[in-house]
Amino acid sequence: MNNLSIPTPYWDASLYEDKHAFVWQYGEDLLQLLNPKPGESILDLGCGTGQLTEKIALTGAKVIGIDYAPEMIEKARQNYPDLRFDVADAREFQVDQLLDAVFSNAALHWVKEADAAIASIHQALKTGGRFVAEFGGKGNVQAIVQALYSALEAININAPALNPWYFPSIGEYATLLEQQGFDVIYANLFTRPTTLADGEVGIANWIEMFASNFIGGLSVEQQKQIIPAVEEQLKPTLYERGSWTVDYRRIRIVAIKV
Ligand code: BEZ
Repeated sequence: MNNLSIPTPYWDASLYEDKHAFVWQYGEDLLQLLNPKPGESILDLGCGTGQLTEKIALTGAKVIGIDYAPEMIEKARQNYPDLRFDVADAREFQVDQLLDAVFSNAALHWVKEADAAIASIHQALKTGGRFVAEFGGKGNVQAIVQALYSALEAININAPALNPWYFPSIGEYATLLEQQGFDVIYANLFTRPTTLADGEVGIANWIEMFASNFIGGLSVEQQKQIIPAVEEQLKPTLYERGSWTVDYRRIRIVAIKV
């Protein structure tokens, strides 16, 4: 088997905003779980282009958005010049003053070292502070992962080694949180089938946006081969009447620092 090195994902922030607005639109009701209050200090971890950071700020809370991708932070700063956004790593960020809450939508499935992220979140919170998060849970985008694995393995590429995602079960993630000094007061794992924009090319756009780790190291010729092979495999389950629907499965967690 050929082991490709794992490329750093490149984020096209404009494409993300144009075609994948559902990422933060679905995150809006997570804000109800966060329930931000005026004057609270809140960190938006993995803030992307800043839409939910702004919603938190509008409640009167003092919010900072952080993201690993400089492309996202640059766009967030353009979108909301009055808010503070920093490039930072979930596994090792530091805060100047302890926080009332850490909020995170659709980001932590990119952090395979969940222990390190939980340790950073824990040290950033006040005692009694809350961690409110949603991300991909066990079984998330399973059909897509399987189709990518089989198309890549057909050309002798070790696809699991390229997988950048972490999709834990409730039991697994709650255990990690408890081991590091959190009480888990809410956990939910649920499906959220999500129809993509752009009809027939929707899944190719999704793969280019979110699954670049799998295909970024391939030649143009190989990419031309892989995407149709993945589409072919997924069509019977994820394509209907001209639209693609992604098999998202989310985990939601609320945990309190003890
Ligand atoms: C998600 O939001 O679950 C997700 C997004 C992109 C890639 C993988 C998962």
